Amino acid sequence: MLLLTDREVHGQRLSRDLALILPCTVVPVQQAGAQLATARVIVCDVALNEPSAVGLLRAALDRHRRPGIPLICLLREQTHHLVTQAKALDATDILPLDTPRAQLLNTIAQRAGWNAGEGATTPRRIASAGAQKAAAALAEMMLAAESGTWISPDTLEIASTAIIDAIARVEIEAWLDVVWAYDQVTYQHCLLVAGLAAFLSLKLGFSAADRKHLTEAALLHDIGKARVPLEILNKPGRLTDAEMEIMRTHAPIGFELLAKQGGFGGELLSVVRHHHEYLDGSGYPDGLQANEIIDLVRLTTICDIYAALIERRAYKSPMPAEQAFGIMWDMGGKLDADLLGAFQKLIAHKP
Ligand SMILES: [Fe+2]
Ligand SMILES: [Fe+2]
Repeated sequence: MLLLTDREVHGQRLSRDLALILPCTVVPVQQAGAQLATARVIVCDVALNEPSAVGLLRAALDRHRRPGIPLICLLREQTHHLVTQAKALDATDILPLDTPRAQLLNTIAQRAGWNAGEGATTPRRIASAGAQKAAAALAEMMLAAESGTWISPDTLEIASTAIIDAIARVEIEAWLDVVWAYDQVTYQHCLLVAGLAAFLSLKLGFSAADRKHLTEAALLHDIGKARVPLEILNKPGRLTDAEMEIMRTHAPIGFELLAKQGGFGGELLSVVRHHHEYLDGSGYPDGLQANEIIDLVRLTTICDIYAALIERRAYKSPMPAEQAFGIMWDMGGKLDADLLGAFQKLIAHKP
């Protein structure tokens, strides 16, 4: 996605939010040029009452915007004049700049899906359309968790359906490839865990209902991270003991948020609270023992650890599967060996 702006600092801030669902490049309107030709979605935050800015914008769009590429214009004021300007630029969507982020992200995801979605046929496009839909839904839920507003079970269902459908149609590698492109650590992580959970439950022959339960739990397992400060969440190096303590609160916080709101099943709540528990009792927050940890939690924990090991960061390429499993087997009696063995077999049988 390309963000055209005439306000550098504001543009950078906006692009961080937009990058939750698609990689986003910020281009000052004065420098708008050939990059427009490769954009799948163009978002425009430019003062449309400034004739010089509009002139630059129009020239760049006329020259480089490919046919059918969505243009989303954000208006700083909702005046007849600005709406007319946006329409003259052939905007597909005209939204106030202060549109709630979740709504803006949904619009962008829908528009991006309009290109890559419904009729998609190649594995990459199928995975990409599913991931975008799920990422927009996840963004809506994470933003709700952050601000303490309603986390919609319907949105959760939209996301899990998109993931389950994509995973049923493409190899897991296609899903991982697409999700590795998400720069935002928590989003990449949750989409990896949910994709692996959908894959595992499909291959283990779970019923449709159980696949949905596991995928939804996996997607929301780290919802409490919406309340962990970003500098801790995104810290590239090792966390200090004090930071680790704060990080660990994400499990009980996520549980409290969902339990207080209501509308989520007991097993999902258990996954959110207990996905860092280990069979030998050394996990957190409650130090549960093996017989107290349900299968849905055990499965999510395995997907969670594997996803964390194979994540892609700007400074780190994904760890090979074999190495990740080596580390997990070295964890001794912490993980369910039968499930880990089954998971490894399914992943390893992939080309
Ligand atoms: Fe977690
Ligand atoms: Fe996690």
